[in-house]
Amino acid sequence: CVTMAEEAKKRAGYAAVDNHIKNNHVVGVGSGSTIVYAVDRLAERVRQENLNIVCVPTSFQARQLILQHGLTLSDLDRHPELDVAIDGADEVDSALTLIKGGGGCLTQEKIVAGCAKHFIVIADYRKDSKSLGQQWKKGVPIEVIPMAYVPVTKAIMQRFGGEVELRMAVSKAGPVVTDNSNFILDWKFEKTHNWKEVNTAIKMIPGVVETGLFVGMAERVYFGMEDGSI
Ligand code: A5P
Repeated sequence: CVTMAEEAKKRAGYAAVDNHIKNNHVVGVGSGSTIVYAVDRLAERVRQENLNIVCVPTSFQARQLILQHGLTLSDLDRHPELDVAIDGADEVDSALTLIKGGGGCLTQEKIVAGCAKHFIVIADYRKDSKSLGQQWKKGVPIEVIPMAYVPVTKAIMQRFGGEVELRMAVSKAGPVVTDNSNFILDWKFEKTHNWKEVNTAIKMIPGVVETGLFVGMAERVYFGMEDGSI
């Protein structure tokens, strides 16, 4: 049910902002559809409580959201140390390992999350999984330098099995191009792996910029549940 999922996203976004954002915080703003609710709530609190908040975006979309809400936009040059980063996820397993990058923004998301003292994830109940791959069927997104997409595809399939697909654009003929002018591969893995090891191994393949596996980064996940709880 779409409405129920949207309500769940909203509750998760509001809870993260209410529980983790304080005056004078530098906040990392994630990407996707769930973060929109968190930014709505953040802007509301900034207005109502007259908070001094600085926002660092993780994508073009996040930058637009910050500007549209009249929030203060910054970057990692000026604010390399963040108090909190809030972001969505495509799937979260029981160890809080995440798959991210369904919307293609994984690299900047991982950079910003890595600069934050606290990385808080917000999602609806459909993202809650015991083991990666049980809920999210589109695989692990991997950002690659365009000229390397074929060798990286082969290397991943040879070493880890499964299928790797170049993500194609919907409204144009050709591949999706990321905010960093790269391509996205979606690795449809066949079994559960040691995600920490696989993440490191994939990152070592020449041409790989970043993977959508976020291992040991999320401190807390807020799931909006179907019954209205969090
Ligand atoms: C963006 O590329 C992603 O990493 C998003 O954070 C993730 O896909 C979650 O998006 P939703 O909030 O739209 O589910």
